[in-house]
Amino acid sequence: MTVRPIRYLGDPVLRRPAKKVRRVDDSIRKLIVDMTESMIEAQGVGIAAPQIGVSLRIVVIGMPDEEPYALINPVVVRRSGERRLDEGCLSLPGYRGNLSRSVRVTVKALNEHGKEIRVKADDDLLAQALEHETDHVNGIVYVDRLDSKGDLVKLDAPFVRSAALDGEASPAGRSSESDA
Ligand code: NI
Repeated sequence: MTVRPIRYLGDPVLRRPAKKVRRVDDSIRKLIVDMTESMIEAQGVGIAAPQIGVSLRIVVIGMPDEEPYALINPVVVRRSGERRLDEGCLSLPGYRGNLSRSVRVTVKALNEHGKEIRVKADDDLLAQALEHETDHVNGIVYVDRLDSKGDLVKLDAPFVRSAALDGEASPAGRSSESDA
């Protein structure tokens, strides 16, 4: 297990549409372990492979009090509804943005054994994380989805570390504002 450094906005790897995983083998499972460790270390609730510098379509979801799991080649196959949310990202520490996300989200993906799975979420942190992380493998960062620059807020210094998104738990543990 290796905690790998998080890549920050400005790094081209975050803007590149990531490559599809052709075969789910041990090297992919090893990468998933590293992604999971890196996510936990950074106190995130989700992470995408490009965020540790690997341009592959893999995300790890780590909802509070749940075992983290991987989604390989994730595709949003269904989304509906609209809600306003605060969001942050591990790749943009110290900032949060207010943006529109879907209420209900269904993602189709492969699990770490190469089996097709579907994950459904409804009006919760998971729904937000699924959209946020799937965006990452498409080279999209949440700031791209803001209506205006005024919707991006710089947090006070003491909050910087804990407030980075990627589904991290926010400062006072208000999980509803966690990043995906
Ligand atoms: Ni992120």
